[in-house]
Amino acid sequence: MTADATTTTTATTPHLRPAWHFTTADRWLNDPNGLVFADGVYHLFFQTNPHGPTWGDISWGHATSTDLVTWTEHPIAIREQDGEMVFSGSAVLDREDTAGFGPGSMVAVWTAARDATDDRPASQAQALAYSHDGGRTFTRYAGNPVLDIGSAEFRDPYVFRHDDHWVMAVVEADRYRVALYTSLDLRDWTLASHVGPVGAVDGIWECPALFTVPVHGGAPGERAWVLLVSLNPGGATGGSGMQYLVGDFDGYRFTPAAAPGRAPRWVDHGHDYYAAVAWGDAPDARALTIGWASSWAYARHVPTGPWRSSMTLARELGLVRADGELVLVQHPVLPAGVSPLQLGPAAGAVPCSGPTVVDVTLPRAGRLTVVAEDGLPALTVALDDAGLTATRPAPSGDLGPHFTAPAHAPLPGRAAVDLRVVVDGDVVEVFTADGRITFCELVLPDTPLAQLRLTT
Ligand code: FRU
Repeated sequence: MTADATTTTTATTPHLRPAWHFTTADRWLNDPNGLVFADGVYHLFFQTNPHGPTWGDISWGHATSTDLVTWTEHPIAIREQDGEMVFSGSAVLDREDTAGFGPGSMVAVWTAARDATDDRPASQAQALAYSHDGGRTFTRYAGNPVLDIGSAEFRDPYVFRHDDHWVMAVVEADRYRVALYTSLDLRDWTLASHVGPVGAVDGIWECPALFTVPVHGGAPGERAWVLLVSLNPGGATGGSGMQYLVGDFDGYRFTPAAAPGRAPRWVDHGHDYYAAVAWGDAPDARALTIGWASSWAYARHVPTGPWRSSMTLARELGLVRADGELVLVQHPVLPAGVSPLQLGPAAGAVPCSGPTVVDVTLPRAGRLTVVAEDGLPALTVALDDAGLTATRPAPSGDLGPHFTAPAHAPLPGRAAVDLRVVVDGDVVEVFTADGRITFCELVLPDTPLAQLRLTT
């Protein structure tokens, strides 16, 4: 989050509204929050402004889904109050009533954020609210804040259960590190350890998530710990982005597997993948994430309306062994029964006027272009000797140079690459078939999308 001006949009752009990527009806949206699966329902809380499509008066919006694709938006769940904004955080089910809010309470842990006033400096501290109606309404805990270190850069608590205690991963944003705290009751927190600075540190750290991910091809039931960290700027494209670390966690300390000084490993190579965190209590212990499909470089000026910004698709995560390391793989969660269209290796085209999944073999020197009804390209993905590059033309309205800077993922010496591409309104997500490289890109054509074209 950066404090610059917002474009107050008056545009109405139904052709840019995605169907499978969650958008609010008519408001602002950024980070996913409070991802928890409860009573057969995936909860998606999110940063929103109750008053419209600009960042401000930040509160938690709420949506639910049973398939991670079709979302129902509900009224605001936790509202900004007296200048105290409800910044990012997580939610847990307190089955054993450790916090004393009642057995099975859904407890939201979030950052109470205040701007500086004449009387006091800006502050960020961790706070609780609990729900007894499945996340529809929350009551603020009277003893808030529960964790305050006197900082204005201390936010985005990600809480989960580990054996007999709760763990919170929370960023000290401008110190490029994640602090790990433990608690028995969600109210009293004890500092256990820190992670970082490590890997990418060219931007402030935000929105950590620490969870286990299944190792494909490993021992039966094998899992490893993954720490996701968002950073802004300084990601893969130079803007908002996400790195990940694989390692061990003993309930108190996370130990990265890679040697310090290892090059950062990116979660996504596109411009628009940020603040992704994982669902707690997901069925079958699946590692499921969702992110925000935008970038702080231009999010406030994106010319969509009456809403602004969408989530990414949910992704299912795994780990594979490659070159002596565990490497993240990600696959999109799609609606049941969707059959991908097929394209390539010879030149051809498929329609993509509604949400579309295309499996395509992109040969070296080939180009895949998402083309709008007016014949203009909205996004091009090309494979050359060095790897995959995604480029976007300048949209109508000035979003600055970052929007048109190419996004690149190294994939040296490949004759061809198999891709799964999901085109949906103003978001295109590209996955290599093995799941090791992904790009999430916002596209802003003036007319509806029409075709995905392969040129070889
Ligand atoms: C990340 C972020 C968080 C913060 C929230 C405010 O995008 O800046 O660090 O809690 O957005 O909306």
